[in-house]
Amino acid sequence: MTTRTRLIPIGSIKVGHRYRSVLGDLTGLKSSIERVGLLNPICVDTDLNIITGRRRLEAYRQLGWEVVECTILQLDSLESKLAELHENTERENLTWQDEVKEKAEIDRLFRDVYGSAKERQRTDLLTGSDSDPVPWSYKRTADLLKESKALIIADIQLADALEQHPKLEEFKYKSQAKSRLREIRREEERNALLSEAKSLDYRVYHDDSMSMIEDGSIDLIVTDPPMFLPRSEEIELTGRTPMKRDVGSWDVVENPLEEFGRWAADFYRVLKEGGSLYVFISDRFISSFRDILERAGFSIRTLITWHKTNPRPQVRKYTYCMSTEHILFATKGSGHTFNWQGQAQMHNFIEAPIVAGAGRVHPTQKPVSILKKWIRISSNPGDIVLDPFAGSGSTGIAALELERDFVLIEKEKQYVDIIHERLIQATDFDLSTDTTEPIPQQEGQ
Ligand SMILES: C[S@@+](CC[C@H](N)C(=O)[O-])C[C@H]1O[C@@H](n2cnc3c(N)ncnc32)[C@H](O)[C@@H]1O
Repeated sequence: MTTRTRLIPIGSIKVGHRYRSVLGDLTGLKSSIERVGLLNPICVDTDLNIITGRRRLEAYRQLGWEVVECTILQLDSLESKLAELHENTERENLTWQDEVKEKAEIDRLFRDVYGSAKERQRTDLLTGSDSDPVPWSYKRTADLLKESKALIIADIQLADALEQHPKLEEFKYKSQAKSRLREIRREEERNALLSEAKSLDYRVYHDDSMSMIEDGSIDLIVTDPPMFLPRSEEIELTGRTPMKRDVGSWDVVENPLEEFGRWAADFYRVLKEGGSLYVFISDRFISSFRDILERAGFSIRTLITWHKTNPRPQVRKYTYCMSTEHILFATKGSGHTFNWQGQAQMHNFIEAPIVAGAGRVHPTQKPVSILKKWIRISSNPGDIVLDPFAGSGSTGIAALELERDFVLIEKEKQYVDIIHERLIQATDFDLSTDTTEPIPQQEGQ
């Protein structure tokens, strides 16, 4: 489409019925024109029909101008292009790829002539003018092509996406390409969130060892390692699908005691003198793990029991509900941090519900509330807390909320992604809700 600029007598510019008749108060516009002159020319077609600038035209007229500078748009080339596109969109054998591209092209052509609402706002702000007629919009393209606005928007977005992701063109059906595009957008949003998380002040390693952690660099370890329990068997339920107990391949190892020995040596190596360790351990291995920790150099301080107030039900009803878990509390060397909270708070027994509902993102997720209690007692703000078996990152959330620095290690990529997402959400936490009082039952962790 070609354009040129010319001085045109105001009286010869034609105002059609499409343009608004109520022009509002023109005082501001007139004084702006008097002050800075003509910043935003009026647009007319080759027959001098006004396209944009109806209010400006009236302001010039009232100011006593006789001629005005106009941009003349060769609308015939737009119209012929439009006719061609229109014809194409009505062709029966038009591929979906061509169809969406044609629609996008029509929309773009009209926006070039009329301007989009956003651009208009920007120009009007700069020039102090108030342009008309109404700027181009998806709604107007939809009306022109006699389709719904939602469909037009989706098709134009797909056309734009084809340029960015040419592989989308390979789909046979438009619906397939659209659903792939939705997935791509979700991935892009997720990646944006993850890159935001990476700029926060903590370390999350996708790894299966503690080798990157320097000797004596950690103040506190709070961790929930694999329990190595035989859980492969399924529980038969009359008339219902068998219940699975398997939590993942990460919970299986040939020789648990050898594994415990490696962990104990690493825990001891990375902790500072006076550092503390809280480690979940199955009742089956408490005494052997206790011995292993002592052999590594730790002083065992106590065994803590967590009572789950909402345990999984005992479906076979032949023994008790498994409503407890055990945690060994041990320290390295002398002078460990121990922020006394009052006798009532220092029992080696703690009650809290297991994480249930939408907040549950890991099969063995631990409540943030109990992790916070130990972090508060055994570290100070600014200390470094390590969880080398981080799962969904509950220890990191607890440390973040208590303003401790932290390091998380997790070997499964799916959980590393979940950690980042949870940490982003947790950065909006409200410190004023933090409490040393008994754990609130409604906390969903
Ligand atoms: C019991 S879960 C921890 C759950 C965690 N407390 C939470 O609240 O989500 C143990 C986690 O350790 C991970 N894991 C197992 N072996 C690992 C290793 N050698 N290094 C790092 N992570 C490991 C598993 O993938 C699993 O997510």
